[in-house]
Amino acid sequence: MPKIGDIQLPDFPLLLAPMEDVSDPPFRALCKENGADVVYTEFISSEGLIRDAAKSTMKLDIYEAERPVGIQIFGANLDSMLKSVEIVEQTKPDIIDINFGCPVKKVVSKGAGAGILKDIDLMVSLTEAMVKHTKLPITVKTRLGWDHDSIKIVEVAERLQDVGIKAISIHGRTRAQMYKGNADWEPIAQVKNNPRMHIPVFGNGDVNTPERAMEMRDQYGLDGAMIGRASIGYPWFFREVKHYFEHATHMAKPTMEERVKVARRHLEMSIAWKGEHLGVFETRRHYTNYFKGIPNFKEYRMKMVTSDDAQGVYDALDEVLDKFGDYSFA
Ligand SMILES: Cc1cc2nc3c(=O)[nH]c(=O)nc-3n(C[C@H](O)[C@H](O)[C@H](O)COP(=O)(O)O)c2cc1C
Repeated sequence: MPKIGDIQLPDFPLLLAPMEDVSDPPFRALCKENGADVVYTEFISSEGLIRDAAKSTMKLDIYEAERPVGIQIFGANLDSMLKSVEIVEQTKPDIIDINFGCPVKKVVSKGAGAGILKDIDLMVSLTEAMVKHTKLPITVKTRLGWDHDSIKIVEVAERLQDVGIKAISIHGRTRAQMYKGNADWEPIAQVKNNPRMHIPVFGNGDVNTPERAMEMRDQYGLDGAMIGRASIGYPWFFREVKHYFEHATHMAKPTMEERVKVARRHLEMSIAWKGEHLGVFETRRHYTNYFKGIPNFKEYRMKMVTSDDAQGVYDALDEVLDKFGDYSFA
């Protein structure tokens, strides 16, 4: 069974992917309750952290119940990365993850995120310095390469392992692909099959059904799956995958009552964490998925996403339960 440093994980663990504006404490708590074995924060700018930017430091909030939890940081400047390791350590996460995969221009143009895939020597030396700077396990999340013609992930993963990272998560796309096309898990399997590799290799990208997770385990032989988009507004995805692994049948979809209950708790936790205004505003993105597929739902979704206060959302949720309580999700 895989281990990240001293952290023992179950067989084929499911990891909640770091997702900006999504993987916050309330959402991580819901994923954890539903079977996520490791959760990661959204990425946090090392430059923001060392400037003590409020938005960055708030992202460091972690809670006992969600352990093991990894805090993900990004940056390309050695000094800033080392200083941010020190700041992150004070909040006592279980893992520090380095983001070498973010494809967005404003990150890449500074040589951070996937930008560093153009300079593998720098990627390795930065990682080595960070590993030496902390006792916490360092993990890396990256992509296959900068573009199709420069995929060297087998060599890159081995070099990162050799400088001391404790696990690697690989998104099966290049930076050039952004989110287009299908994730290719074959190069990730090659990383795993490298006989020199001994740290866990987690696969990421397009794990969107329990069958796909099983394929990643059985056909690609990876050590675990990191799950992103399939969990947005659907934290039940983790338990559905686990149920499928255990029973080879599909678990019943959550009932309307459960969806309403969880949507309500999500909002309550968000408000407790960041206050009513931001809590109401930032939980909006999740409702669409919580209630996906219900016919004639627009009116109710609109009420949820346009209400400026919590009571308005709670009233809309009560109405939903009243009107659609018997709806059966196929
Ligand atoms: C809304 C959103 C935000 C993301 N933010 C991050 C991030 O902060 N750090 C990171 O490493 N990847 C981030 N990603 C990429 C995901 O972690 C993941 O690699 C990608 O979505 C592919 O996995 P999936 O097909 O399971 O979603 C983000 C993806 C999405 C959709």
